[in-house]
Amino acid sequence: MKIIAANWKLHKTPAEAREFCDQLLHQVSKIKPKNQLMIFPSAFCLEAVSEKLKTSSIQYGFQNIHFEAQGAFTGENSATAGLSVGAQVALVGHSERRSLFHEKDEVLAKKVKFLQEQGVTPVFCIGETLAERESERTMEVLEHQLREGLKLASAQKSLVVAYEPVWAIGTGKVASFDQVEEAHREVHRILMGLGFSSATPILYGGSVKPENASQLASIPHVHGFLIGGASLQVESYLAIASV
Ligand code: PGA
Repeated sequence: MKIIAANWKLHKTPAEAREFCDQLLHQVSKIKPKNQLMIFPSAFCLEAVSEKLKTSSIQYGFQNIHFEAQGAFTGENSATAGLSVGAQVALVGHSERRSLFHEKDEVLAKKVKFLQEQGVTPVFCIGETLAERESERTMEVLEHQLREGLKLASAQKSLVVAYEPVWAIGTGKVASFDQVEEAHREVHRILMGLGFSSATPILYGGSVKPENASQLASIPHVHGFLIGGASLQVESYLAIASV
């Protein structure tokens, strides 16, 4: 069973989120995909998604949370509030959070720890930039991000990792079979070295589409996908989820 995660980023209103979930539930009841579906709406749409999916097997959660349960943190998302509407998962360290919102390893490590303590599964995102790949630093960057971001994490609690080459996100450029194979093999090796379970799922993200999903899904240590653009329509999302 693979994890097929939809990262809606800053798209959809609550009404659009409800409509998506209605269509999704309708299609899922017909197709019965064998994979675990996961939705990351914007925080503003979380309650709408929860209304629709609470009693289904589809998981949902945050694109970002703060590492304190509550307090004077204007503009942040509260995991406690999310838990109250059934959030089970949260993205941490997406490259857009790292680059646009300047989130550093130290903060990401606190978020991973906090989520695990709350019983929420962190989906910890890592990936190299084009400059890092071209200067042959990919594996070094991945190792650094894993080591630092997971340094407060518990190997006994649940964790998902998502490898997303930054240059492949939203660009239509997909990493090649060999690049994905090498990176996932390496991420798996590093996770084992850090004491995490060999069953820790490693997702691939970056321009995943219905047309490339089956080939990517056949790569060893690819345990699912984190999908941006192609997750916004039920049809393309479910086409990927049916691989
Ligand atoms: P993309 O986004 O599928 O649009 O490339 C992936 C992501 O940012 O998680």
